[in-house]
Order: sequence, then C-alpha cells, then structure tokens
Amino acid sequence: MRIYLDHNATTPVHPLVLDRMTAVLRDEFGNPSSVHHFGQRTKALVDEARSAVAALIGAEPTEVVFTGGGTEGDNFAIRGVAEALEVTSRRHIVASGIEHEAVLNTCKALARRGWRITLLPVDHSGVVSPDALREAITGDTALVSVMHANNEVGTIQPIAALAQIAREKGALFHTDAVQSAGKIPVDVKALGVDLLTISAHKMNGPKGVGALWLRRGVRLVPVMTGGRHERGRRAGTENVPAIVGCGVAAGVAMEKMTSEHARLSALRNRLEREVVRLVPGTVVNGGESPRVPNTTNISFERVEAESLLIALDLEGIAVSTGSACSSGTLEPSHVLKAMGFPAHRTQNSIRFSLGMGNTDADVDRLLAVLPGVVEKLRTLSRSPVRA
Ligand SMILES: Cc1ncc(COP(=O)(O)O)c(C=O)c1O
Repeated sequence: MRIYLDHNATTPVHPLVLDRMTAVLRDEFGNPSSVHHFGQRTKALVDEARSAVAALIGAEPTEVVFTGGGTEGDNFAIRGVAEALEVTSRRHIVASGIEHEAVLNTCKALARRGWRITLLPVDHSGVVSPDALREAITGDTALVSVMHANNEVGTIQPIAALAQIAREKGALFHTDAVQSAGKIPVDVKALGVDLLTISAHKMNGPKGVGALWLRRGVRLVPVMTGGRHERGRRAGTENVPAIVGCGVAAGVAMEKMTSEHARLSALRNRLEREVVRLVPGTVVNGGESPRVPNTTNISFERVEAESLLIALDLEGIAVSTGSACSSGTLEPSHVLKAMGFPAHRTQNSIRFSLGMGNTDADVDRLLAVLPGVVEKLRTLSRSPVRA
C-alpha cells in the first residue's frame, strides 16, 4: 500500500468532483457562448461553479475569472497589472523572496522589459515583515505580490497588514492563495487585497483549472486575447468539465474546512513531534510561525534530501524536497535559502504535506520506517568510497 504525503504538489480528485465532472463530460457538451439550449445549460454550470468559488473566498461571482490554473492566475495578475499601468510612472513591483516560480519568473520576465523588481526578505520564521514592505515600497510601486501561504514550509503571511501598506501608497496588492484556499479561511475583504489566485488541483479538484479574483474596478489587460469569454478578461472556450470540478472542489473544501483543519493539524503535529523525537539531528523549518495545517518541512542533518526521498519512495511513501517544480534538480530550495539557512539545511529538507486520504495509520507507517532509513543513509555517507 502506498502512502501519499505530497498534497502541496497536487491532490487526488474528490469523489464528488469526479462524479460531477464525468456527468458533465458525458452529457453536457454545449459551448457556453451559444445562445441555444445546449449552450445555456453549460453557461449555467459555469455560473454555478463561479458562485461556489466566489463563496469560498468571500467574493462576488462577477469578480471571478476562470483560468488554466495557478500559474496562469499569477501571470494574469502580474502581467495584466503591468500592462495596464505601463503607460503610467509606476514601474516598480514588489514581491517576496519566497514566492512560487509562477510569480518570481513572471517578475523576472518583466524586469527584462524595464520593470524594477524588489524581492522582500524573510527571516528564519519564513514570514514577510510589514516593516520590510514599508522600506521597499515607493510612490512608483504599481503592484505588491505576496503569497498567502508558502508551498514549501506552509507559513502564512500577514496579508491584511501588507495589503494595508500597499493601499496607503496607492499600489495594487495580489496574493497567491493557491496553498491556502480550501485549507484555511480566505476572505478577500478581510485580507484587503485587489487580486487573488487559486488553483483547483491543490484542493481535490482537477489540474489545469483555477481562478483569478479581481476586485471590481481593478483594470487588467488580458494575457489571453480572442473572443469575449469571461467578460472579455480571458479568451477561449471555457473548459466546462474542469470548471465544474473546480466549483465542486471549492464547495467541498468550504464544507469540510473546519473539521479537516482540526484533523490535519493534529496529524501533522504528531508527525512532526515524533520525527523530531525519533530521529536525531532534525529540525522543523518555519515551525514557530503560523502555518497551514497540513504542511511540515523538516531538515535531516547529514542526509541528502533527494536520497531520502528516493529511499522513502522505495518504502512506498511519497514526499517531496520542496516545490515540485524544482524537484529533479539538486538546487537548494530558494525558500529555505531566503529564510537564511545554511546550505546543509537547505539541501537536506523534506516536505511532508497531508491531505484528504491520510490517517493516523499513514503517520504510524512513516514513523516506523523513517528512523531506520535515515540511519542507513547516514551510515552509507560515512563509509569510505571504494575504488
Ligand atoms: C504557491 C503556488 N502558486 C502557484 C502554483 C502553480 O499552480 P498550478 O500548478 O495550478 O499552475 C503552485 C503549484 O505548485 C503553488 O504552490
């Protein structure tokens, strides 16, 4: 039996999502832009999903634009604002150093087009301080983009305080809520943001679909040009089954949030406490900060993270060495680097991220296997290399 502890990379599709998506794929093929009966049926399905997503984040349905996932949402927010404001004197973007590549590389692309980019530092806690933003923001700042929860260490950022600083300077504020939506309450009004990205596959929905929420009145230049879909904000015939899946996932996540939060944080806390107790030379990264309930990131002294990942996979346990996008490379995590940890700590960290199907038995199995695996890897790395 295999155990999946990598829910921040992606999640299994919830049975209710699968049922609705299958039914839509089978029975509802109309184009939502069509005026006839077939089109009106799928338009109603898209509208229903839009309402479910809006409810999850405390927004108005008309402010929700469906996208092809979190990466597209981040691109749309940042490039869309940049292009809309390119004609003004505001040519500065502030982001944090622990953002996902979808934000970081989009900022890099804009830097090549003459935008000034400032990356905010974080300390060992993995949290961006409002003071750092106060120092970095100027009258030229067009946009501030700071993620709600970090994908590698799970730390929750003080978005309301940061957004308030941006507002006072007349800058827009975007938050990537891909890792928080569905796990902790996300309310666009309480956060005080202008733009917010979510992705369905991180909350038991399908891959390749998500949403960008934009506060009414915020003007973005569309990244995708073409027809008048999504009120002219994202061209292309809607992926109706995926959008329906996104809506169902949002509804399920909302309904189960309180109980899953309690269940997963208890599981995560036990996993973390016992790993640190049973395996010498371990330390939790960002453990002192507010975190999403399902995530822990632990460094194992004198263990190459990639080797530990493979050894655990051979035991049937799937974990990750940080963000999925950079796995397969031996690059140290940019998040742990930004948190100021030395190379040995950034290169031997493992992320355990729990989700829907995980139980106490999964944690028991991990705890039964992990100490021996770590010990073996440490012994191997100590033994002399034979010619
Ligand atoms: C914080 C964060 N933002 C954006 C993304 C990208 O989302 P998607 O996989 O839907 O493109 C991810 C996925 O790993 C993420 O964790």
